[in-house]
Amino acid sequence: MKRTVLFLSLPNENGHGTQKAQKDTKGTRNNVARHTFCASCGPFVPFVLLSRSRWAKLLFLIAVTISAAACNVFKSPPGRPPADSQELAPGEIIDFSVLYGKNCAGCHGENGRGGAAIGPGVPLYLAIADDATIRRVTADGVPGTAMAAFAQTSGGMLRKEQIDAIVTGMRTRWGNRNNPGSLNPPPHRAQAAGDAKRGEAVYTTFCSSCHGADGRGGKASSIVDGSFLALVSDQGLRTTVIVGRPDLGAPDWRNNVPDKPMSPEDVSDVVAWLVAQRSQFPGQPYASSKLTRSASAIARSLNREAQAR
Ligand code: HEC
Ligand code: HEC
Repeated sequence: MKRTVLFLSLPNENGHGTQKAQKDTKGTRNNVARHTFCASCGPFVPFVLLSRSRWAKLLFLIAVTISAAACNVFKSPPGRPPADSQELAPGEIIDFSVLYGKNCAGCHGENGRGGAAIGPGVPLYLAIADDATIRRVTADGVPGTAMAAFAQTSGGMLRKEQIDAIVTGMRTRWGNRNNPGSLNPPPHRAQAAGDAKRGEAVYTTFCSSCHGADGRGGKASSIVDGSFLALVSDQGLRTTVIVGRPDLGAPDWRNNVPDKPMSPEDVSDVVAWLVAQRSQFPGQPYASSKLTRSASAIARSLNREAQAR
């Protein structure tokens, strides 16, 4: 009878479990499966001596399977999860999509297209805002508004590397460099203080067709409401006037009046006028019993969210 012997051997001096032909109990020569096993498996390498029987192929396959399993066992001991299945601690995440999705999308919309707040992924925004601005706002927030500080150094949760990943990600995913090119838009930051008096006339020319004669609402909602103006910064108003809100149908600086783009002075002046409408003690007196702009805006965004679900 021919015998098959299955045993464990230490690797030979080459580091591999290869052995030469051996004799079976009857003294006839056997064919030996030569197989080179993975040298990183540790010293125990299963190996097979095979008789020239019809089981040879099958046994060879079994041996290969066992050795492969042994490799896995040595790589990842039982009970220890593979490295890639472990969740990262919040401070270790530097993937832009995850960082933006967890920290920003709730207000700024998926892919930066806008939501409760302006869309920082809108191409025009990325063209006028430089990296330093985006980094500063993200790190330190905008005081007095819903835009919180995200940097740990300013009381937020994100490390410097994570803020950098957000700024870089916004550029690489959504927009090229800070480069307005031939568009020639008004600068992101005002170069000089605006004139509120002149701004009133600018408002009438460029804004009243939608926001009403006095800003209290028309086709579009009120933009002089005390609660709205109390929660938005001067720069926030300026950014909106230049970039518009494409997600809400608000035009950018070029399209309030067909073929009549606003000049940089127009923008500064209309913002100065809006700022002059801000009351010192927002909420008092209760000027109107109508739904305020911010209340209706919140209701709209809640509706949109509900529909999106
Ligand atoms: C709770 C809502 C909220 C969250 C969350 C939020 N923001 Fe904002 N963000 C705002 C508001 C509101 C403004 C406008 C503030 C103002 O009036 O100037 C703003 C403004 C900005 C601006 C400046 C726009 C300008 O005028 O130039 C940038 C850039 C920005 N946010 C980036 C981010 C990033 C990046 C994150 C996530 C790390 C984030 N925001 C999270 C509400 C939010
Ligand atoms: C063609 C119509 C139209 C014109 C012209 C227009 N807007 Fe708007 N505006 C809108 C719409 C639509 C919205 C968003 C929905 C709403 O608030 O009713 C909006 C929203 C706004 C907002 C609020 C953005 C926010 O944070 O929710 C401000 C501020 C604003 N406009 C300022 C202006 C100013 C200043 C002008 C003139 C320079 C102007 N708009 C001209 C249609 C217009």
